[in-house]
Amino acid sequence: MATNDDLLDIAVEAATGAGTRLREVFRTGARVATKTDFHDPVTEHDLAAEEQIRAVIGKRAPGSVIVGEEGGTQPGSGEVTWYVDPIDGTANFAAGVAFFCVSIGAAVGGELVAGAIYDPVRDQLFTAGDGGARCDGVPLTSAGPRTDREALLLTSYPSAYDLAQQGEEALHRFGRLVTSFSAVRRPGSAALKLAHVAAGWAHACFGLGASPWDVAAGALLVRRAGGRYLGDPFTVGPYLATVGGFDLAGSALAELVPA
Ligand code: IPD
Ligand code: CA
Ligand code: CA
Repeated sequence: MATNDDLLDIAVEAATGAGTRLREVFRTGARVATKTDFHDPVTEHDLAAEEQIRAVIGKRAPGSVIVGEEGGTQPGSGEVTWYVDPIDGTANFAAGVAFFCVSIGAAVGGELVAGAIYDPVRDQLFTAGDGGARCDGVPLTSAGPRTDREALLLTSYPSAYDLAQQGEEALHRFGRLVTSFSAVRRPGSAALKLAHVAAGWAHACFGLGASPWDVAAGALLVRRAGGRYLGDPFTVGPYLATVGGFDLAGSALAELVPA
């Protein structure tokens, strides 16, 4: 039976292996197709990276369940379940914007136990496990300001889908965020946004309709760094994360807190 440290080691090998290849092909002109609609791009590199990751997991943890964005769910014994996003931030990757990552989380018995998020362009590795949250081996503390006025928020809200669901109200909510926070940014990549909150480089992030492969590793990273993560990382839905000590009740984000 693999230990949590073993699972983290596998996640790191898979994420850095795939990410190294992504760094090599970044800005070389990927062929872009779309999935659900024109806001949802995919490239040949998303598929190749996921294959590479599945091969590492298959070799080192045979029998695992693998839930991957591109290849769907591969059944297994059910002891360990992996949540794999081969490129989180594909729209950035495809266009040439250097804000994307590989995100891999592992759960045992319905609990997240290991996660790796690799930013190939900066060659930065975020890890979460029994040894806490780290960036390139250095322990992370998710700390920062307490109030909106001092804080920087990362969010892709409202997406085109959110606007279709919520109409004008989504724009009013976005307006309240923009006027309440010191700064609001839309960099893309839910996983890398969570890594920034875990590190205290950004102070809050929020989104709707996130999938387990987007947030599994990042949720564990934020929590192990002492930040707050709200939302169910195992189902498609909202997520909200803040640095530790942030006054969420007094924040413009309070009306968006996941149930
Ligand atoms: C998307 C990114 C984006 C978030 C979407 C995700 P992808 O993932 O994380 O920032 O707003 O909800 O689907 O398609 O780049 O893997
Ligand atoms: Ca994603
Ligand atoms: Ca993806």
